[in-house]
Amino acid sequence: MDRLPPHLRPLLDALDVSPDNVPLRKHLGEQLLTFGLNEESAKLFADGLRLAPASDALQLGFAKANERLGQVAKAKSILEELVRRPGQGEAHFLLAQILAAEGAGERAKQHYEKAITIDPSLANAEVVESMAGILKELDEEDGDDNASEEESEDDVDAMGRRLVRAGQQGEFQPPKLERPTIDFRSVGGMEGVKDEIRMKVIHPLVNSELFKAYGKAIGGGILLYGPPGCGKTHLARATAGEAKATFLALGIHDVLDMWLGQSEQRLHQVFAYARKNAPCVLFFDEVDALAASRHDLRQSGGRNVVNQFLNELDGVTHSNDGVLILAATNAPWHLDSAFRRPGRFDRIIFVPPPDEAARASVLSVLLEGKPVGALDLKAVAKRTPERSGADLKAVVDRAIEGKLREAMKTGRPLPLETKDLLAAANDTPPSTKEWFATARNYVLHANESGAYDDVAKYLGISRGGAR
Ligand SMILES: Nc1ncnc2c1ncn2[C@@H]1O[C@H](COP(=O)(O)OP(=O)(O)OP(=O)(O)O)[C@@H](O)[C@H]1O
Ligand SMILES: [Mg+2]
Repeated sequence: MDRLPPHLRPLLDALDVSPDNVPLRKHLGEQLLTFGLNEESAKLFADGLRLAPASDALQLGFAKANERLGQVAKAKSILEELVRRPGQGEAHFLLAQILAAEGAGERAKQHYEKAITIDPSLANAEVVESMAGILKELDEEDGDDNASEEESEDDVDAMGRRLVRAGQQGEFQPPKLERPTIDFRSVGGMEGVKDEIRMKVIHPLVNSELFKAYGKAIGGGILLYGPPGCGKTHLARATAGEAKATFLALGIHDVLDMWLGQSEQRLHQVFAYARKNAPCVLFFDEVDALAASRHDLRQSGGRNVVNQFLNELDGVTHSNDGVLILAATNAPWHLDSAFRRPGRFDRIIFVPPPDEAARASVLSVLLEGKPVGALDLKAVAKRTPERSGADLKAVVDRAIEGKLREAMKTGRPLPLETKDLLAAANDTPPSTKEWFATARNYVLHANESGAYDDVAKYLGISRGGAR
């Protein structure tokens, strides 16, 4: 590939190393098309299809390249096959374009509408116009009666309006902005963790002048890690409530777009949106997926996303004043170390399963407003070691279900009692064991920096040795 732009060379090299990496091949093939290297792109996709003949993405790419090369019939036959599969917005879109160019307005319209139903961001005014033009011409040729002509013109207009509206909807759709009604009172136990969050993010937000007067830098984020169900997400939401801030939660799928090039822009838009709604807690759930090690070749397209994320965290382009950044992960060991530098996620907090006192307090939070008799929550807490907050929630739900069943039989609603909770606890084993089995390995073999000291302490492992 002599004409390859230099910045694409590393991608090609990466593909040589892992030729079966479909997302990478797709990305590179698309890039070649944008540089007009249509033949090269077609070859790249054809090579890929030999390895993975059923791949939707590669077939689509191959069809695009063929269309560019003027092999329209070939492109069309691939696309007609593809559009029979679910979720093929782009294939519908390309087929609509080809059909419109051939003057098959009605079929073009059908595929176009399918395309934007699947993916509103595909809406495109030019295509609408060309299709609307064809449809109008056809109608004028067909109908000699005025009424039907007016009707068809209305139809064309209505279609245009509908499609343009859909196009507008395809623009950036921010994640849902919440105003949490819960605060730290709704979080049982975790006093140490709450204190740290207060000091690190809430006080600086509320008393920003004071912090500045002492020359204390404001910024950076907190990374919460620990076994599933122990309240990381719950705590992040409560932090927003405690700071009287808005709350914006993002999962990996909100940011990573299947079209790699758009992810950076989305990430930027999300930070901008948070700044606009400051004070705001911006929460990245499952951050390890977004911030996975940059050395991983399979993610080579994702490297830009990681860099963009780091820039936004650093507030390179815009100040992050008033934006508190929290993130959570079950797998801190997969996080790129660049994320842990000062000013980024420089506070890493282990969120353990609740201890006995915390379990009693979690239970009382969970039982608030429920019909209860005299309850000995301490006894229940004692009998639920290692249970996560989510496990305790399951215990309460199970106990209430049992009560409901009883009430329906007897016709008398009875309050929840200690024995109901104990029985439900017996049926709810702890869900945190697997996580600790994995974490133990990291504590024993990958804790040189002391990053997992808190987990070691929890597991009763002393530094550099076994229990
Ligand atoms: N400390 C707590 N106080 C009150 N409720 C809690 C607490 N910890 C957990 N819960 C309850 O358990 C549920 C699960 O917790 P949450 O989803 O926050 O866990 P998580 O650590 O984010 O889990 P995952 O790692 O699976 O995302 C919450 O909806 C909440 O009802
Ligand atoms: Mg969570």
